Amino acid sequence: MNDFPMDLDTLAVHAGREDLAELGVHALPIDLSTTNPLPSIGIGGDSYETLATGGTPSAEGSAVYARLWNPTVARFESGLAQLEHAESAVAFSTGMAALTAALLAFTASRGAPHVVAVRPLYGGSDHLLASGLLGTEVTFCAPEEVRASCRPDTGLVIMETPANPTLELVSIRSVVDQAGEVPVLVDNTFATPILQNPLDHGAALSLHSATKYLGGHGDVMGGVIACSEERATMLRPIRAITGALLHPLAAYLLHRGLATLPIRVRTQQETARRVAEWLGGHPAVAEVFYPGSHGDPHGVLGAQMSGPGAMLAVRLLGGAAAAEQMTSSVRVFTHAVSLGGVDSLIENPAALTHRPVAGDAKPDAGIVRLSIGLESADDLIADLGRALDA
Ligand SMILES: Cc1ncc(COP(=O)(O)O)c(C=O)c1O
Repeated sequence: MNDFPMDLDTLAVHAGREDLAELGVHALPIDLSTTNPLPSIGIGGDSYETLATGGTPSAEGSAVYARLWNPTVARFESGLAQLEHAESAVAFSTGMAALTAALLAFTASRGAPHVVAVRPLYGGSDHLLASGLLGTEVTFCAPEEVRASCRPDTGLVIMETPANPTLELVSIRSVVDQAGEVPVLVDNTFATPILQNPLDHGAALSLHSATKYLGGHGDVMGGVIACSEERATMLRPIRAITGALLHPLAAYLLHRGLATLPIRVRTQQETARRVAEWLGGHPAVAEVFYPGSHGDPHGVLGAQMSGPGAMLAVRLLGGAAAAEQMTSSVRVFTHAVSLGGVDSLIENPAALTHRPVAGDAKPDAGIVRLSIGLESADDLIADLGRALDA
């Protein structure tokens, strides 16, 4: 597709589908083979060696075994990589499997077990880092403390923007500059490639919980990292060894989801703007967290992120009791964790998504996080109005 420059909307529909006409099909084919015929022992062995060391199969080679490589997954990876302005992408069974692979590839195994993590992060990421489970040692810090937190044995800097759950905007360029030679991983789940491309701002790795906006319908789990081919070559063997490949049926659904990603994200964003504005005027709401609502000193909106997205949060004056009341009173929103789907979700991060985060970094118990879906803004506002009045 590189010889025919396309707008983002066109790319979202066509990227990763380049070989379909040649195959004589129109919809994305699903290859469920767990094993693949070997033309000869020699070619099979060579193919195994190539795949196990992070390469991709040659035209005359074999995919050997599905834990090593799968064509349906590879098509999704190609589509996502193009949307992320990346050379490559590597897809995993979940977002946490993707983060695990990045930690395994770039930290302890390379003699650099130290990780600098800009807080806040998704609670699961925070938990994985704080646990030291993968042989890492973490320094949590604020965005402006990255330089001071880096050490000679730092293997990776991890950040999220907008950051979960209070939607802080972090300048990727500033973190990259402070990190120096250390690769920076940006969790781009909330922004999606439609609103933000971290690699354009110097990040080495752009990670998605594909479970969220990329799938977009709350029915598929996955994770993906967009990066250079050199780094993809380091991630693929980890995926093969640890058995973290995305399932081809999930890859099919995620790839199909990419086609509607721009239209979903923009529509959900417009509704979120209206909901955020309305919540800001409600007497039960102490504070609204929406990208830009607490200022934007680094000029992230516009320059780094083309719009504020469709995630927001509120701090309720009535604290945890009000959060309980609100989440149990909604009728159009579903009280559930996760985000990024066509239907709106509401949850209390302190009790759920950020439950494992250490006390001092845990979000306020009166904060409620909203993922805005494709319902009408009027219905969502009416639902929240009823719930807040209750
Ligand atoms: C921002 C963010 N990153 C990563 C993850 C982990 O993704 P998964 O649940 O697909 O493992 C999540 C999950 O909620 C998330 O919200």
